Amino acid sequence: MVETTARTVGIIGVGEIATFLVQGLTRAAAAGRAMPALVLSPRGRERAAVIARETGATIAADNAEVVERGDLVIVATRPAQTLAAISGLPWREGQVLLSVVAGVQVEKLASAAAPATIVRSIPVTCSALGLSPTAMWPDEPRAHDLLARLGTVHPMPDEAAFEAACVLGAFYGWVYALVERATETTAAAGVPASDARAIVAGMVGGAAAMVRHRPEVSVEHMLAELATPGGVTRLGLDVLARHEALDAWDAAWRAVHDRLRGT
Ligand SMILES: NC(=O)c1ccc[n+]([C@@H]2O[C@H](COP(=O)([O-])OP(=O)(O)OC[C@H]3O[C@@H](n4cnc5c(N)ncnc54)[C@H](OP(=O)(O)O)[C@@H]3O)[C@@H](O)[C@H]2O)c1
Repeated sequence: MVETTARTVGIIGVGEIATFLVQGLTRAAAAGRAMPALVLSPRGRERAAVIARETGATIAADNAEVVERGDLVIVATRPAQTLAAISGLPWREGQVLLSVVAGVQVEKLASAAAPATIVRSIPVTCSALGLSPTAMWPDEPRAHDLLARLGTVHPMPDEAAFEAACVLGAFYGWVYALVERATETTAAAGVPASDARAIVAGMVGGAAAMVRHRPEVSVEHMLAELATPGGVTRLGLDVLARHEALDAWDAAWRAVHDRLRGT
């Protein structure tokens, strides 16, 4: 029978994103999903110790123990650290290596972690709230089941599509830059800072909700509904166009895509 749930999840690379992933798993467990047993790599022991205290996770003696114990092992190191972190470990047939690392291709991961099944994904920090829209490739039942506890899962048809979807992991960060700038400008004009922050966040969340909940309507049409001729939304869009603001976002998208593809 094909296993569809990982009972023991190892984590190699207990840094920022791993912490948010664990928070998401804990949240899903509070909502009734089974909590997998967690086995953490020992490097960065202080952070691992906090997670262990809060979740009952085990801190392994070394990365080899993480691989020995995990049905599924998440690797969440920085890209340049990844191949060294997963090489020479006792990977076995039927085990899943779930990478959340941007820009390290399946072929390289497979050569370092054979004969494990390799899966790539790009969950983001709102995994902690169960809201990550996570691209993955290839689709694999245990990895899919785990990622589904952290939000929506979007299996990609091939690695090229996955790499393009990975750019949106960086886009997620750029949204924060936009939120920060709009909040600061609004607060500087006299709106109490906490209100400015809440209103800006509500506008971004509200726009995202409308796009998600009206899938039959094009985003272009929704924008046309908002930007009536002579109105202030139209005025601002014209200013943004004069500053080539959207072209700049395209340029950022392409720069990240090139980096991820190693071009
Ligand atoms: N941050 C995000 O929101 C986000 C979102 C999606 C994907 N990612 C991906 O997640 C990866 C990690 O990002 P991050 O922001 O979480 O980085 P991070 O905070 O630097 O975490 C990486 C962790 O891996 C540890 N590490 C390095 N080599 C190791 C080894 N050989 N064995 C065990 N642990 C090792 C590091 O320890 P040291 O500090 O001692 O080196 C550090 O604790 C990146 O590749 C990124 O592409 C991040």
